[in-house]
Amino acid sequence: MAEPKSRDSWTSRFGIIMAVAGSAVGLGNFLRFPAKAAANGGGAFMIPYLVALLLLGLPLMWIEWTLGRYGGGFGHGTAPGIFHSVWQKNRFIKYFGIIGIFGPIVILTYYMYIESWTLAYSFFAITRELTGLTDPAALKSFLRAFQGIEKSRHFDSLGTAYFFFLATFAINIFVIYYGIRGGIERLCKWAMPLLFFFGIALCVRVLTLGTPDPSNPSWNINNGLGFMWNPDFSALTSARVWLEAAGQIFFTLSVGIGVILTYASYLSRGDDVVLSGLTAASMNEVAEVILGGCIVIPAAFVFFGPADIAAIAHSGVFDLGFVTMPSIINHLPLAPVLGFFWFGLLFLAGITSSVSLAQPAIAFMEDEFNISRGKAVAIFGIIAFTLCQFPVFFFKNGIVDELDFWGGTFLLVIFAAIETILFGWVFGMENAWKEIHHGADLEIPRVYKIIIKYITPAFLFFILGMWLWQEWLPFIFMENVAPEDRTCVLTTRVVLLVLLAVLACMVKIAWRRKRTGGKG
Ligand code: ALA
Repeated sequence: MAEPKSRDSWTSRFGIIMAVAGSAVGLGNFLRFPAKAAANGGGAFMIPYLVALLLLGLPLMWIEWTLGRYGGGFGHGTAPGIFHSVWQKNRFIKYFGIIGIFGPIVILTYYMYIESWTLAYSFFAITRELTGLTDPAALKSFLRAFQGIEKSRHFDSLGTAYFFFLATFAINIFVIYYGIRGGIERLCKWAMPLLFFFGIALCVRVLTLGTPDPSNPSWNINNGLGFMWNPDFSALTSARVWLEAAGQIFFTLSVGIGVILTYASYLSRGDDVVLSGLTAASMNEVAEVILGGCIVIPAAFVFFGPADIAAIAHSGVFDLGFVTMPSIINHLPLAPVLGFFWFGLLFLAGITSSVSLAQPAIAFMEDEFNISRGKAVAIFGIIAFTLCQFPVFFFKNGIVDELDFWGGTFLLVIFAAIETILFGWVFGMENAWKEIHHGADLEIPRVYKIIIKYITPAFLFFILGMWLWQEWLPFIFMENVAPEDRTCVLTTRVVLLVLLAVLACMVKIAWRRKRTGGKG
């Protein structure tokens, strides 16, 4: 058998922290979080959000950093190999690990398309294509024409959107091709500071809006912040609010996906995971709660007033990002620059997340089949490109919701539950505690021994049960899908099942080859 290739690695601790924070800080921070918070009790949403952060987010962050570093020591950078290293006696556990490759690919297929819109809109902002579009209805029609849903004087086909999708895809492949230290780390080291610069600049601009329309004195920034943050405690009695908060924590921290396992597998055994994991999570929270929470919704309140703001908050993340925000910006001086900052911020947040979503599939091919990075990137590129055509061409048929449900919601919780049980119960809490603290620069409060072993898994099973009861069955039976879109949604499901089956076969082949010394 050929000698295993030496694995890529991070050049510095700053590099991996920026990369994990880059994976976490994404479109979810600036679009999904404000919409969820404003629609689910404002300031009161922060109570279930903080509970989920402390009982799910942080424990899972530490579990994934530790399991990843542990598996990396055996030459495995993805969940099949990592799970197998932890529970070698179990023949089946490696098959559960395919979720940690499948989930990121599924998210990536739609995420990259949305990311390409942000690149396109950055370009439209700077070339003044958006200038003068202050009316949300005009921006909505611009967006729909761009998406190929309707024709307008701006676009009469999907051509422009497809061009930017190709450009975004190519940029992602370029970064991934250069590997962990040469591509991803290098990108995140400059992209993350720039992203924070854009975010802080926009935040300062919004906080200094004052009362732009003197004829409506109550439409001011203080009341905008009040709408976003004043707590409505009655929201806390709804189970849905707690589930939304837990779902947001998963999505925003990129836990339960599989990408942190992979990133951490490039660490050395003596590298700290406790403080690094905490730092990356904290950066994400600053970006989410402070920057994400102070930009879109408060600004929308100031320009559209209390009567419309609730509908805006419920209008969905695409409208918030691509209709509401540009319409606000176009009311302000220096609109092209501010527009470029906003969409540039979203693009940087998007690309630092999308490269992380690609890495598990690449690492799987490199580590388990011992093939070169170039070949792995080429195979990945062909498969990902083919899958991306679904959200691009069938966007209006509800494909993104479908992919987001499986890849970005359901499987995250399942995968997190498997990881937690493996870590706290199979590996054993005493071993796990020692493993987390190996090389650690900080000691985790001992109460987390109990949290990781009992409370996090119980919380995860509670979420699974509640979702099964409230959402999964209607979803599985496509109750909310328009009849004309059902064939499209069903086809997507079949394609996803085929992908799962292919990954399962690949795991089988990889392990057979290992058993037979590469001859299988
Ligand atoms: N964590 C990434 C985001 O928030 C996926 O968008």
